[in-house]
Amino acid sequence: MSENVVWHEATVTRERREKLNGHKSFVLWFTGLSGSGKSTVAHAVEERLHQAGCRTFVFDGDNVRHGLCSDLGFSEEDRRENIRRIGEMTRLFVEAGVIAMTAFISPFRAERQRVRQLFAEGDFIEVYCDCSLEVCEARDVKGLYAKARAGLIPNYTGISSPYEPPEHPEVRLKTDTETLEESVDKVMEYLRERRLLE
Ligand code: ADX
Repeated sequence: MSENVVWHEATVTRERREKLNGHKSFVLWFTGLSGSGKSTVAHAVEERLHQAGCRTFVFDGDNVRHGLCSDLGFSEEDRRENIRRIGEMTRLFVEAGVIAMTAFISPFRAERQRVRQLFAEGDFIEVYCDCSLEVCEARDVKGLYAKARAGLIPNYTGISSPYEPPEHPEVRLKTDTETLEESVDKVMEYLRERRLLE
């Protein structure tokens, strides 16, 4: 479909934007079960980065599914398309010099890998919110686990649809035992180690 479309090179490049911003751009890709703390940690990291003068944006599963992806459900195919769109969107944000953060379950390893491949080495940082299903289910913030157990929601991740944990995430957060502060510190530590905020 894009065969008659020509890519237009900008003179204001990503490098120039990064220089103006005073930091690198990259994506922090949070993945984990529903209720594992992805959005909470992503927004808390964003708060820290914003206070430090960084340009940031958080893409949140629940919000994006009201707009950009409102035509998609939770079949395997729709989840794949959901993640593909978010991947492309975050790529544009990274080009725009922004630190993008995403909070989607993104349950399939192959899809996360596909998104990773859209980025240059080091620009895609996978953050695994490792939280047991028991804890997510006990929290049941939105009451959806109870509904899924009752058979009212098909293909519910962790209940009737699989979650494939990352094998080598750049950052692993134990969101069922760490405090929010500790999780945020871990992410910030990784960014400092990699000198991404200079
Ligand atoms: S993803 O699998 O495509 O990455 P996404 O993060 O956008 O999922 O949306 C997950 C959110 O949608 C959950 O936190 C939950 O509130 C809601 N949801 C509704 N139906 C389902 C379902 N079948 N499986 C998982 N989450 C669902």
